[in-house]
Amino acid sequence: MQPKSIRVPDFRDRKRRGEKIAMLTAYDATMARLLDLAGVDALLVGDSLGMVVLGYENTIPVTLDDIIHHAKAVARGAERALVVADMPFLTYQIDHAEALRNARRLLQEGHAAAVKLEGGRSIIDVVKRLVDVGVPVMGHLGLLPQSVHQVGGFLRQATRPEDADRLVADAHALEEAGAFAIVLEAVPPAVARSATVHVGIPTIGIGAGPDCDGQILVCNDVLGLFDRFVPPFVKQYAQLADVVVSAGRAYVDDVRAGRYPTPTRETAGTQTTT
Ligand code: KIV
Repeated sequence: MQPKSIRVPDFRDRKRRGEKIAMLTAYDATMARLLDLAGVDALLVGDSLGMVVLGYENTIPVTLDDIIHHAKAVARGAERALVVADMPFLTYQIDHAEALRNARRLLQEGHAAAVKLEGGRSIIDVVKRLVDVGVPVMGHLGLLPQSVHQVGGFLRQATRPEDADRLVADAHALEEAGAFAIVLEAVPPAVARSATVHVGIPTIGIGAGPDCDGQILVCNDVLGLFDRFVPPFVKQYAQLADVVVSAGRAYVDDVRAGRYPTPTRETAGTQTTT
């Protein structure tokens, strides 16, 4: 029997039942299909796309069209997992009309079921507006990669007591505005725990300790595919970068030595994936 698809209201039910939520990012249909088969609950088409797929230094250059293009692919690959799309840098802060237009494109053209926005009380009005018109919103607090220039790097957040209090207040505000979940990135485990017990919607941690209601990681990190930098909190469940390099090297050696293709009879099948 096909397992039931994950819907936005399931997030809150999971928290109520104490069932952890497992999220990963995905950027293409093949990876989405495989991670969906693995039972991942939700796939985020994150603007980390810029760093792990498009080769940028940070997430700032990622455009709405980039996310739509990749969200379409992920939505085609995922059957059970909820597909969430990031709203890129400055696509939701300029005015509400533009935020609504951009969210509309992510849901209608990208086929995402929900959007994710970075920030707390500073963006609360736009979160309310999106939720009011039926766009499910996932919040994102702590390290906000879209503020990398302002903060001066990808630095751990909420390490001072006053910042921790601010984060918990932001989490409350997001819940009141109607967000259905909140990503907590790179904050001390005690701060993540405090936010988690103070809100009724699930917290999804990344580098935020074990007490969040769920976890999210970048799929390329989990699979050992992104070899430029491995964040300290990442657990690599595979070393695919090594597999790709050695498979690529074996192919190059075979072609150069005339071992591939092997001689076949003229009648042999010629079907390819293209
Ligand atoms: O863009 C992204 O991949 C993210 C996750 C790291 C939470 O925002």
